[in-house]
Amino acid sequence: MTQRDELVAIMARSSIALLSSIGFGTWAWGNKAVWGYDALRDDARLRATFRQALSSGLNLIDTADSYGTGSLNGRSEALLGDFMAELPALRRSQLMVATKLAPFPWRWGRRGFDAAFEASQTRLKGQLRRVQLHWSTARYAPWQETGLLDGLAELVLSGRVEELGLSNLGPQRLVLIHRRLLERGVSLRSVQVQCSLLAPADDQMRELIAVSRELGVEVLAYSPLAFGVLGCAPGSEERRPVTWLRQRLFQRLLPASLELRSAMQAIAIDRGASMVQVALNWCRALGTTPIPGLRTPEQARDVAAALQWSLSPQEFQRLDEARLHCSERMPANPFQSR
Ligand SMILES: NC(=O)c1ccc[n+]([C@@H]2O[C@H](COP(=O)([O-])OP(=O)(O)OC[C@H]3O[C@@H](n4cnc5c(N)ncnc54)[C@H](OP(=O)(O)O)[C@@H]3O)[C@@H](O)[C@H]2O)c1
Repeated sequence: MTQRDELVAIMARSSIALLSSIGFGTWAWGNKAVWGYDALRDDARLRATFRQALSSGLNLIDTADSYGTGSLNGRSEALLGDFMAELPALRRSQLMVATKLAPFPWRWGRRGFDAAFEASQTRLKGQLRRVQLHWSTARYAPWQETGLLDGLAELVLSGRVEELGLSNLGPQRLVLIHRRLLERGVSLRSVQVQCSLLAPADDQMRELIAVSRELGVEVLAYSPLAFGVLGCAPGSEERRPVTWLRQRLFQRLLPASLELRSAMQAIAIDRGASMVQVALNWCRALGTTPIPGLRTPEQARDVAAALQWSLSPQEFQRLDEARLHCSERMPANPFQSR
């Protein structure tokens, strides 16, 4: 079976199993370096974005205790905590708020995440329901990960948090950790990895999706829009992001993805949808739940509209062929384990 045949087969299986949902990510909420955050300018818009996302039916929210640059550390969680506090209790109870705790070198042992967990729960005003290990330390300190995971399992067993998730790891590590947690009576809910039409490491991504399906673990697709590159229509590339880091990425990826973005645009026009919806529905067709980063109410409305339709197998195959011609891909996360 060729790689393309395998992907089409995965896609056919996942559309039978009915398509996954869509959540949203909040890395940009407090991040200056990559996203150019400015509290005075942005916070009111982010509140409106949050409200629009919820009214459009997006209930899974991803954040992290390390989101927010420098003195703004924890800002994403704090904004979410404030915005959730304005909701009626019933609406709050319908949300799945998932944070990621960073395995910094000074956090180790079974108690290594305790203080970080309490700090996140405080910023999120008690609404934290899923804790995810932000990245695997398997490549440089495997012993550290084991102790931290035991501590996370205890958070679930003691009822302090409902669910556990992982991030930035591959299929081999997933199988090991899944087994270790099960032995302690804790089941793993999700694993998040970079997944998009421009994501690196195709083989590993495909294997992770297949293994996760067998284990019953949901795959969350992060950076599903390649930082916004996949929403740029051919011919409108002059609209560039403000930060230097994103500009550099756009300069490299826009020309390399022209054929792919033209194929996406053709499907979008046929469907009366946006290119962003096409990108997200490719992730959903693979069986993953995309968590696009949102910064405006219009983006939230657009993203949620992807839930109204799905790619046909032919459209999926057309995108898959076009992506093989992309000479450049997104950078891989340096902590991603096998
Ligand atoms: N586990 C990890 O290590 C990890 C790593 C990265 C991200 N994540 C999570 O995944 C989330 C999403 O990934 P990401 O933020 O890196 O990037 P992304 O989702 O690929 O791109 C987000 C950007 O795409 C643009 N966009 C979103 N909706 C749009 C729409 N409807 N129309 C046009 N443009 C739209 C926006 O750019 P503009 O606002 O500039 O228009 C937005 O800021 C993060 O927020 C975070 O929660 C996790």
